[in-house]
Amino acid sequence: MSTRDTVTVRVPAKVNVQLAVGAARPDGFHDLANVFLAVSLYDEVTVTRADALTVTCSGPDAAQVPLDRTNLAARAAELLAARHGLSPDVHIHIAKDIPVAGGMAGGSADGAGALLACDALWGLGSSREELLEICAELGSDVPFSLIGGAALGTGRGEVLTPVEAGTFHWVFAVADGGLSTPAVFREFDRLTAATAVPAPQADPALLAALRSGDPDALAATLANDLQPAALSLRPQLADTLAAGTGAGALAALVSGSGPTTAFLVRDEETAAKVAAALTASTTCRTTRTTTSPAPGATVLAR
Ligand code: C5P
Repeated sequence: MSTRDTVTVRVPAKVNVQLAVGAARPDGFHDLANVFLAVSLYDEVTVTRADALTVTCSGPDAAQVPLDRTNLAARAAELLAARHGLSPDVHIHIAKDIPVAGGMAGGSADGAGALLACDALWGLGSSREELLEICAELGSDVPFSLIGGAALGTGRGEVLTPVEAGTFHWVFAVADGGLSTPAVFREFDRLTAATAVPAPQADPALLAALRSGDPDALAATLANDLQPAALSLRPQLADTLAAGTGAGALAALVSGSGPTTAFLVRDEETAAKVAAALTASTTCRTTRTTTSPAPGATVLAR
């Protein structure tokens, strides 16, 4: 067993550069062709030996984070402990920087982070495959939070194939209040009810653009099938998208199920300019500048 009493894991947010959504499946989920990109915006999850499982959270959005067993970090500790006949007696602290309910996989990040942290704390040495299996049980986006980088997700998003990606610069506009992912998928179903929804397919031009590191090529291929649904539920996001492109972003899209919006920019200098213009537009709560790809969940040496 490990002799460490506390372990901290850093885990990134994501943006979907392509989110192709198929028709609803009998189990209620949707098949996806989901090109994930991890960005340099992180939560830190610290687990410490304790008498019982407890969760605390710090950061500007901390009040919106559930601290009970519905938190994916708590569920991750429970699932891993149950597999090994252990009690999940840890205190989990989440230092939250990823927007809550924002379409950037913040909750999924905490699940993947807590899983890796508990594995190290308890000295289990689980294989990546075992960890990925538990991640998939926790949620569709959790496996990607563990591996980071860039990957194509198929199935409901949990079946991952890593893909190559050059460096890109991004600005994110964080909206006031979150959007519920199930509600956005339900709105997608409503908006597409009268049409035949094709099977989702990864776009080869987008994958080539990602590999090349050419921001103009990536800008021309960004696509999110959930964007009309997110805009239908939150029409004012159109103003945020327009403010960012008006200020020089190469392209803009809703991040995942939203309501965070993502702006692809040519370089760091443009990122600062676009972020300032978004702030001045008062169409968002705050902005963040990042680069991609970012590494997946990583144990910090402390
Ligand atoms: O997998 P996860 O728990 O993150 O999914 C949350 C919700 O998002 C699901 O209950 C479902 O409503 C929706 N979803 C979906 N199809 C996917 C992923 C998520 O419909 N591929």
